[in-house]
Amino acid sequence: MANPRKLTFHYVQHPTWASLPKEDRKLLDQAMAAARKAYAPYSKFKVGAAVQLEEGPVVTGSNQENASFPAGTCAERTALHAALAADPKAVVECVAIVVPQLKRQVPVSPCGICRQALLEQEHRQGSPIRLLMGTRKGIVIETFSAESLLPLAFDGSFLGRRR
Ligand code: THU
Repeated sequence: MANPRKLTFHYVQHPTWASLPKEDRKLLDQAMAAARKAYAPYSKFKVGAAVQLEEGPVVTGSNQENASFPAGTCAERTALHAALAADPKAVVECVAIVVPQLKRQVPVSPCGICRQALLEQEHRQGSPIRLLMGTRKGIVIETFSAESLLPLAFDGSFLGRRR
């Protein structure tokens, strides 16, 4: 017999950027600054990401596009992979994502491929990654794990990898 199941997803919607704790505002500011370094001549959609490492530095990234569109990478993966390339043992606490030019009051959230990349890191480090998605003039959305953003995900366990 079919067994309907329900997944619950928790997130926080902050009314403004200013209503966040200082450290979170700073991380969003760093993501905002990173967006200025984006290479987005095709979409003209500049995204910035800032990765807060546990007791460590902040690593930033921006989207880097290519004439061969699929060769481009999103800001989130640029920042995440730069952090892990520099320190394979890095533990990611939080990732802030900002699109400064966005006119909507609702922030951009990571694409499916970036969610998959964040999930891999979450499993690798064994702890959840918090996300802050911000707009300067609108709301900020805070989520508490990549897993929650990617229900029924494909992961290393299907390939025989033990966590
Ligand atoms: N993009 C990101 O960098 N992050 C997101 O969360 C959404 C999309 C980039 C990819 C591409 O360079 C441009 O935004 C338009 O999709």
